[in-house]
Amino acid sequence: MKTIWFDQLEYVAIGATALYYKIKNELIGFKCIIPTRWRCDLECMKAAEREYANLVEVAKRTKMTPRPYELAKVFHPEFERWTYGVIMEHIDGSRVDNDRKHIYIVKRALKRFGIEHTDLHRGNILITRHNGKKRYRVIDFTSVDLDE
Ligand SMILES: Nc1ncnc2c1ncn2[C@@H]1O[C@H](COP(=O)(O)OP(=O)(O)O)[C@@H](O)[C@H]1O
Ligand SMILES: [Mg+2]
Repeated sequence: MKTIWFDQLEYVAIGATALYYKIKNELIGFKCIIPTRWRCDLECMKAAEREYANLVEVAKRTKMTPRPYELAKVFHPEFERWTYGVIMEHIDGSRVDNDRKHIYIVKRALKRFGIEHTDLHRGNILITRHNGKKRYRVIDFTSVDLDE
């Protein structure tokens, strides 16, 4: 598994179970699972692997999600522990406002690809611009239901 040095990372945001960093001078980022007293190394690794596998499959089916690169680990100085995560495309976007329509649009679009994102809320939807057009990018595929 690839090792990332903590100095390479620039803090971006925190979620319920993970920290997200941009990798300095690159267009990729690293989402790592926050280790807790109750969450052992193996569980962090399993969560990262699950997210990686889900991202690979969803990225194959759609363009709505960051492309995953690889699994990696970092020694996190704050927790004084190793933790695990996924290197992925960095999405330079902004959070959607709290209009429910964004969630419906994304839900419907993902459904066409046989994907159900089980944690769809505004913190997991980013908006970017592509050739002047608005584009949704969905993140956080920790748990997802995939049709065959
Ligand atoms: N690929 C990415 N590009 C840009 N920002 C991201 C990316 N992945 C996560 N983030 C940011 O990090 C936050 C937490 O990531 P998220 O995957 O939602 O973690 P959690 O599983 O803890 O909710 C997101 O709300 C978003 O702001
Ligand atoms: Mg999230």
